[in-house]
Amino acid sequence: MYQINENYNKLPGNYLFSTVAKKVDAFKAANPDASIIRLGIGDVTQPLIPAVIEALHKSVDEMASAETFRGYAPDLGYDFLRNAIAKNDYAARGCDIAADEIFVSDGAKSDSGAIQEIFSADARIAVCDPVYPVYVDSNVMAGRCGDYDAATGKWSRVIYMPTTAENAFIPDYPMETPDLIYLCFPNNPTGTTLNKDQLQGWVDYANRVGAVILFDAAYEAYITEADVPHSIYECKGARSCAIELRSFSKNAGFTGLRLGFTVVPKDLVCKGTALHSLWARRHGTRFNGAPYIVQRAGEAVYSAEGKAQIREQIANYQKNAAFIRQGLLDAGYEVFGGINSPYLWLKTPKGMSSWEFFDYLLENANVVGTPGAGFGPSGEGYFRLTAFGSFANSKEAIARIQKL
Ligand SMILES: Cc1ncc(COP(=O)(O)O)c(C=O)c1O
Repeated sequence: MYQINENYNKLPGNYLFSTVAKKVDAFKAANPDASIIRLGIGDVTQPLIPAVIEALHKSVDEMASAETFRGYAPDLGYDFLRNAIAKNDYAARGCDIAADEIFVSDGAKSDSGAIQEIFSADARIAVCDPVYPVYVDSNVMAGRCGDYDAATGKWSRVIYMPTTAENAFIPDYPMETPDLIYLCFPNNPTGTTLNKDQLQGWVDYANRVGAVILFDAAYEAYITEADVPHSIYECKGARSCAIELRSFSKNAGFTGLRLGFTVVPKDLVCKGTALHSLWARRHGTRFNGAPYIVQRAGEAVYSAEGKAQIREQIANYQKNAAFIRQGLLDAGYEVFGGINSPYLWLKTPKGMSSWEFFDYLLENANVVGTPGAGFGPSGEGYFRLTAFGSFANSKEAIARIQKL
């Protein structure tokens, strides 16, 4: 009789977005005339930029003729895209990353879930709390997290690093030494960042204790402040301790198109084995390449027109974020994030729990957000709003919240 991977049974149901959806549906059924504004889910709403659409059309046409048709893409990505990434995301920022250290993929969710596969089964992971759930859940599936305690919302073998207003959302170095440290800055869900010195501290720490940092920079395009690093490779010594995950989803609206990449520097070596070789092996075995047309679309993001159009698109979301942030501050809320991020993280008022505030906002302002508790125990008492809606919706949501 076959057996299942029992680790899957250990996972608590992912109630967050399904509970949100159920509550919103029930509210809508009871209040059919209510005009609901959704600032909950982290998906983009603006269309793809013209430069990307043009590249897609052109590459689709190439697929229609035998001379220019493309079949399987190279496992690790087409050179035209890897070169564009190396030049624009790394060389332009003074980072020493070669094109062949870049592994093109179908997005940062796949990579952030899969990267744990190249590490030992007993590796200890450290995560910020609250956290993007994929980091923990993928390690649970691999059997690395021990047992779940429903009362605390914690796994016995996971090292939690609380990030709350009390420590200005800057994780402290953990008491127990981790092997793998997941860091995501600008952060989802808190919208906060580390400055260059703070991130350098983490790089130095990881090199000192022999840990690898898995740095998720999916939101780097939203950075507005000069001292906030866009890449961990802006820090000295990161080549020997850090893997970086990137996405085209939030910087170019590719959530439906799917494109991302992971950087594994060749200096990352464990007892004579380069992590680069392991990830190349893993990628080659389990992944057959991101589609040619999507990689051409990704390349277009780095053209002169593409860059200008993307800047404008991000500026629209940043305008929403700044507007929501100021509106909440004016209404007396304690607000974090929203400066280098499309996420606003606010303290729930009057001691309400995250879910109590969710219901309150839905019922009284018809605005949907995401309860902070859904991202980890330290998210309790916080609430996430996103700037991915339209400006008109952001304005209307704030007007309603200010009237409460
Ligand atoms: C922190 C973080 N990493 C990765 C992703 C997923 O990115 P992708 O769309 O490239 O899979 C998200 C999406 O919301 C995210 O918030």
